[in-house]
Amino acid sequence: MHVAILTGGGDCPGLNAVIRSVTLALSQAGAGKVSGVRQGFLGLLEDRVVPLDPAAVRGLINVGGTLLGSHNKADPFAYFGAGGADCSARALACLERHQIDVLVAVGGDGTMTIAEKFARLGVPVVGVPKTIDNDLMHNERSFGFDSAVAVVADALGRLETTARSHGRVMVLETMGRHAGWIALEGGVAGGADAIVLPEWPCHVDALAALCEQRRAEQGYAIVCVAEGAQVDGLDPDGPGNIGQRLMQALGQRLGPEADPRFTLLGHLQRGGSPTAFDRALATRFGVQAAELVLQRRFNHMVALQQARCVAVPLGDVAGCSRLVPQDDELLLAARRQGLLVGVAQG
Ligand code: F6P
Repeated sequence: MHVAILTGGGDCPGLNAVIRSVTLALSQAGAGKVSGVRQGFLGLLEDRVVPLDPAAVRGLINVGGTLLGSHNKADPFAYFGAGGADCSARALACLERHQIDVLVAVGGDGTMTIAEKFARLGVPVVGVPKTIDNDLMHNERSFGFDSAVAVVADALGRLETTARSHGRVMVLETMGRHAGWIALEGGVAGGADAIVLPEWPCHVDALAALCEQRRAEQGYAIVCVAEGAQVDGLDPDGPGNIGQRLMQALGQRLGPEADPRFTLLGHLQRGGSPTAFDRALATRFGVQAAELVLQRRFNHMVALQQARCVAVPLGDVAGCSRLVPQDDELLLAARRQGLLVGVAQG
């Protein structure tokens, strides 16, 4: 059997660990040949297939990024971008030329959606969930998320000391276009006073009131906002926008002493070495993906449910996002601690 691995979409810590894990598990089982496809689905269009073996992946468990490279715009069914041409035949020809029997696609929602389309064309596919946003359906944890949360929590801790020194209001913008998991968990772990998520619209006036109250009590206030957050009248039009606009809006309401500042964490959340948790999770996912290949249980994505690895049909995952629900335990815990979390508009 010839198995090819690709990593699609935005990168995240733990991708190398999963490539390593799939390669080692398949080699250990004597499953046949393993290859890597470079730059995600672009590599299928451009015929960028490279051999993988245990020697090629040893020593990678703690290395960030992906040795195969990635691409978040190369969709063979719409190349380049919406309205683009369907080039899937070119990708299929590449699979055939290299006699690739199974494709292991490691990625987020976009990658799973493309993988599912290939599955419908008859390509045996196994998916592995990757996204720092942690928003893939039917999967409680994707690797990369824990590493991103650690960066957010660390940044909030650093902002706290300077906010305290200056008696300031600090706004930290995290990633999370549709789902607020990073802002929620990072915000709680980092001791933010308010957390604003894409899931619930929020009033600037309510935020300003809380900041004022916290400044009265502790001398400063820290707001953690997800990039896709909806704050009244402020358009969350891309990274660096909502956090900056929020800082300005708070400045107008709080007066000169609060002197708000804004920090955009951006791609720092995706870079660097994976946490030990993510290394272990990526290893488990990789082994489970290899197991699905060996069992010939195709067109499924590996997922974590109730702390165990399971397989869910790709069709159930493609095209949807797992958002923070109203009854999320951490969300409720944050509210019960007096944090302002996504206050619904009145
Ligand atoms: O992986 C998703 C994500 O983390 C989003 O939260 C963010 O908007 C996006 O990546 C940014 O990715 P890029 O700048 O690589 O397009």
